[in-house]
Amino acid sequence: MNAGEFVTVLGSSGCGKTTVLKMVNGLLSPTAGEILINSRPLVDQNLVQLRRHMGYVVQQIGLFPHMTVAKNIGLVPQMLNWNQDKIVSRVTELLKLVQLEPAKYADRYPSQLSGGQQQRIGVARALAVNPPYVLFDEPFGALDALTRIELQKEIKHIHDTLKDKTFMFVTHDINEALFLGQRVMIMKDGQIEQFATPEEIVQHPATQFVSDLLATTRQNQGLWGRSE
Ligand SMILES: Nc1ncnc2c1ncn2[C@@H]1O[C@H](COP(=O)(O)OP(=O)(O)OP(=O)(O)O)[C@@H](O)[C@H]1O
Ligand SMILES: [Mg+2]
Repeated sequence: MNAGEFVTVLGSSGCGKTTVLKMVNGLLSPTAGEILINSRPLVDQNLVQLRRHMGYVVQQIGLFPHMTVAKNIGLVPQMLNWNQDKIVSRVTELLKLVQLEPAKYADRYPSQLSGGQQQRIGVARALAVNPPYVLFDEPFGALDALTRIELQKEIKHIHDTLKDKTFMFVTHDINEALFLGQRVMIMKDGQIEQFATPEEIVQHPATQFVSDLLATTRQNQGLWGRSE
């Protein structure tokens, strides 16, 4: 991956996508090969420091239910002993970035939010200390199609706005992977089938598996424009 790039990781359930993210974050060690961050082996780096530089939006949202939205977003700044004014202004800024009105949402609890709103808070929290790397593990998996498309547009906009951030975004949805990724890494059974730009993948699928996946896109199934 290159600095500032938006890479999506696509593959079926159980192919090892979450495992890849956990290895990049240092939560798991690879049994073979090595992970390089900024050209340096991960094993040589201080994991606490590294994770401060890496936001992580986990697969099951993972907001703390007993904390307000503001406290959830401000968690890492609080741990790093930022002063309170700075935390409040950062939380306000992030809520605006994810399109939630601060006055309305800051003091709510996660249970008082819809699934899509909770996911926005998860994204805001991952961005709190302005990390250069952000890992996303199927953040929109549980959302309805319209909310999902809206959040896809937003995350793309956020990547464009916050220049120089490297995003690694896991999904099992090929439409999402091709829409968001500047490059897409397609996995099957723990192996990389193809890692290329969306255009390259669509024009030159590297394997039968990639071709089969492409055949499931909405365009190719002929499901668009069907009159019923
Ligand atoms: N801690 C573990 N110990 C042993 N095997 C594991 C462990 N965690 C995951 N696995 C196995 O490793 C494989 C890959 O798991 P992983 O969670 O990376 O899949 P995934 O691609 O993220 O799937 P999903 O889309 O369902 O989240 C699966 O077969 C899973 O059962
Ligand atoms: Mg997973």
